[in-house]
Amino acid sequence: MSTESSLTSAHTRQIGGLAVNALGNAEILQYPKYRLNLYLVTICFVASSGGLLFGHDIGVTGGVTTSNDFLALFFPDVHHHVAVEQGAADSAYCKYNNQLLQLFTSSLFIAGLLAGLVATVPTRHLGRRATMLIAGAAFLLGAGLTAGAQNLPMLVCGRVSLGVGVGFANQAVPLYLSEIAPPLMRGFLNQLFQLATTVGILAAQLINYGTLRIPDWGWRLSLAGAAAPALLLFLGSLALPDTPNSLLERGHEEEAHRVLARVRGTQDVGLEFSDIKLAGQYARQVKHPWRNIFRPQYRPELVMAIMIPFFQQVTGINSVMFYAPVLFKTLGSDDAASLLNTVIVGVVMVLATLIAVLFADRWGRHALFLSGGITMVVAEVVVAALIAVEFRGATGDAAMPKAAAVGVLFFMCLFVSGFAWSWGPLGWLVPSEIQPLETRSAGQGIAVAVNFFFTFAMGQAFLSMLCGMQWGIFLLFAVFCVIMTVFVWVFLPETKGVPIEEMRLLWRQHPEWRRILGKELGAIAAVALPTKGASGINGASGVKANAVEEPQEANGHEGYGKVWKAAV
Ligand code: BGC
Repeated sequence: MSTESSLTSAHTRQIGGLAVNALGNAEILQYPKYRLNLYLVTICFVASSGGLLFGHDIGVTGGVTTSNDFLALFFPDVHHHVAVEQGAADSAYCKYNNQLLQLFTSSLFIAGLLAGLVATVPTRHLGRRATMLIAGAAFLLGAGLTAGAQNLPMLVCGRVSLGVGVGFANQAVPLYLSEIAPPLMRGFLNQLFQLATTVGILAAQLINYGTLRIPDWGWRLSLAGAAAPALLLFLGSLALPDTPNSLLERGHEEEAHRVLARVRGTQDVGLEFSDIKLAGQYARQVKHPWRNIFRPQYRPELVMAIMIPFFQQVTGINSVMFYAPVLFKTLGSDDAASLLNTVIVGVVMVLATLIAVLFADRWGRHALFLSGGITMVVAEVVVAALIAVEFRGATGDAAMPKAAAVGVLFFMCLFVSGFAWSWGPLGWLVPSEIQPLETRSAGQGIAVAVNFFFTFAMGQAFLSMLCGMQWGIFLLFAVFCVIMTVFVWVFLPETKGVPIEEMRLLWRQHPEWRRILGKELGAIAAVALPTKGASGINGASGVKANAVEEPQEANGHEGYGKVWKAAV
């Protein structure tokens, strides 16, 4: 028997209808204790500049679209309405309601959606590093075009180019980080990407606060701000190695071994190397992830890949991320105060994201989802009530009494923090960690596309909805938050500490899914899974390694499930 085939059979074991890799857990415990080394830290730093860029793109437009110089140049109608007529003719809620203005913000995400789907091809065939390089180049071009824009088409081309950057980066960077990270740091690193995103948002808001006081060209500086992380990503990607997984997938075995030894800081990487090799072999056997995910037995995975990113967006978060300065100005704050309020919101967001980074693996996803959901509902209802009662913008004076304005800011911060410790990071983590290998790339692709589509839709629609629904828009978001909280409570099993390869069993044990899908869930494909240390993307959590010591034999899924339940 060849070494490879003996490895494969040693790595699999039949339990109930499912073949699992029994030795996988044992082996991960035998990995040498890798230490963080400077090389790995540098790599993670460079790669997370992808998150900074994503954040900059989200956070920068709100401030820029309140700049009169910017509006006068590209959106003279809005400028006339806001600065000349002072929005006096009709409702203050409608001051910024302009489809083109919204397109400036949202065009990036529709480009990102398409680019993200296209990027699955270079990610696989050219490698993660090359895809990040393309992303860096597109970001640089986009930063140049938007900062130097002379007319609207040039501006929108710049946003589209940034969108291509976001699509490529969001496809390749999380994958890169997950693969380059030692297995026990994978879940933690996944959330660091979100942390970098929030830092990027805050940085953009701070830059806006500084530059938008500069007459004429201050907004150009804000938009040029994307160039710094873009350059870091571009030059960094030139210098970085590709991941061992991607190198092996493309047949560069020696180089893959060299890179693995270097990022682990030791030559003692044989076991992990053979794990990655097996994972690669298995991944190559999965020919139709897109067909798999539409089969009835994968319905829960499909539903989650669609509903979680959808719900994440209809919390209304991006109405605040994109348009906070516009909102504060609409409610009567002056330029400086509205930008300062926005910065306060940004700081709160970064701090609250830390809660998820530190505690998602300890408190569990459910606790964060539910507490975050309830917090958002309360905050949005109070914001709606305050605006309804204290703001006369629809009919007269558009300034709010000070105490009420402070109240709005406070509850806006509460809303953002509820999001930041729950749906923000978990909205990306959970859809990726519940996918089995058979559907993983398709599931991840769907989740990214749905997220970007609804980000686009919210960006495009919010100002018009604010104009039409006034304070009622926040009640609509609150209703969605209620629905999504109930949805998580009823349909999402707790995934904390459950190894990715055992996630499939969760649906079978879940009362609602068992009731809805019955027999279909029993039809879990009997496949040879690679060892746990080497699974493709977005590892579930750092708890993975100690979640299942010894799979219990022959009791079927229930018995097997008990093991991880006891362990988490
Ligand atoms: C969301 C973005 C949002 C950001 C705010 C991300 O998880 O996908 O749409 O703007 O969080 O931090």
